[in-house]
Amino acid sequence: MSSKQTIGVAGSGAMGSGIALVAATAGHPVLIFDANPQALEKAISSISDIVSKSVAKGKLTEDAGQQILSRIKTINSVGEFSPCNLIIEAIVENIEIKKSLFKSIEAVVDTSCILATNTSSLSVVSVASACQNRGRVLGIHFFNPANLMPLVEIIPSFTTDENTVSQARAMIDSWGKITVLAKDTPGFIVNRIARPFYGEAIRIYEEGIADFATIDWAMKEFGGFKMGPFELMDFIGNDINYKVTETVWEQFFYDPRYRPSLTQKRLFEAGLFGRKSGRGYYNYESNSSMPEPVKNEYLGKAIFTRVLVMLINEAADALYLKIATASDIETSMMKGVNYPKGLLKWADEMGVDKVLAALNSLQADYQEDRYRPSLLLKKMASEKSKFFNN
Ligand SMILES: NC(=O)c1ccc[n+]([C@@H]2O[C@H](COP(=O)([O-])OP(=O)(O)OC[C@H]3O[C@@H](n4cnc5c(N)ncnc54)[C@H](O)[C@@H]3O)[C@@H](O)[C@H]2O)c1
Repeated sequence: MSSKQTIGVAGSGAMGSGIALVAATAGHPVLIFDANPQALEKAISSISDIVSKSVAKGKLTEDAGQQILSRIKTINSVGEFSPCNLIIEAIVENIEIKKSLFKSIEAVVDTSCILATNTSSLSVVSVASACQNRGRVLGIHFFNPANLMPLVEIIPSFTTDENTVSQARAMIDSWGKITVLAKDTPGFIVNRIARPFYGEAIRIYEEGIADFATIDWAMKEFGGFKMGPFELMDFIGNDINYKVTETVWEQFFYDPRYRPSLTQKRLFEAGLFGRKSGRGYYNYESNSSMPEPVKNEYLGKAIFTRVLVMLINEAADALYLKIATASDIETSMMKGVNYPKGLLKWADEMGVDKVLAALNSLQADYQEDRYRPSLLLKKMASEKSKFFNN
């Protein structure tokens, strides 16, 4: 696929507008569609704002900015997608609505057009099941904001043709993104492995071990994370973060390891979404100040270790279950959620036996399946092996 190829974007919300900007910046003509004409107007204005800011900062010339904008055209019906070579769907997260859209898109495009879904939590194969030619459908999962986040998960389903995967991946690589391959399973790579960063932190709070500020401090101080879990949940939005957690749990047939937290559910129900609503775990109103953490080194290290071993357990299990390669798992967590280090490398540094011992101790204390160690960690500890040799 060359930059002359036309890219279609269905849905012009937070993700669709970012994806349209990325494709147009890479030189493609872009056709963007939304069921709501006001959403289309909003998308064009937010894309123009981002381009203007890049011009003002000297990252783009005025002329280059104008060219990017001129490549993006809004369309008012699915029928106008007909010239597209690749269409990326980023509409509402609802399987029936997505399937209906894919069916109507397939009826108007060329047989060679690749169809992708940006779904975060639905199965790619279920979206593909709406199409006659399921081989042309795959998942292309961008992170928010799509124009800034480098990682893109490429998700073939059981029915995706190999050719579709290689062409789509080459295209997204050519846009300057870092692509990883993920199995069509709940949360793909990042949204699966990252769950304990939030869930275990909330559990520690619920048990009264530490408050939000102390847990955030511990993860930054001893783990080098840029943001603590509560700061990050408030940044992402507790509505979005809660929904992802709930969906991943449901899709894993209610595996207790992914069970959501009542604390976050209550925040969600109360509309305390975080920064965007003025209050979440913290209060962001102008007259409020941030609480001070309890800077106790022993406590901080214990909190950090507990969250870290839970994250490593997820990463190890994802590797064991062949969700992705070790290298793609490391890349995903560093480029998709800015972790300071790959989790498998972290396990090697800490010692797989020590990770396993910490998980075994949690499982013995709580007697909960939530803490069950991955079989891979058990095998590796008995073999005294590492994830990487250097
Ligand atoms: N927001 C995120 O952080 C994020 C990250 C990665 C992936 N995703 C996924 O991307 C998709 C879009 O998410 P978003 O956050 O951009 O949502 P959004 O609510 O910001 O935008 C969705 C847009 O789709 C439009 N729409 C709804 N039904 C439509 C239809 N039948 N045809 C055309 N347009 C329709 C809506 O009018 C809206 O403008 C979802 O599948 C979501 O799971 C979201």
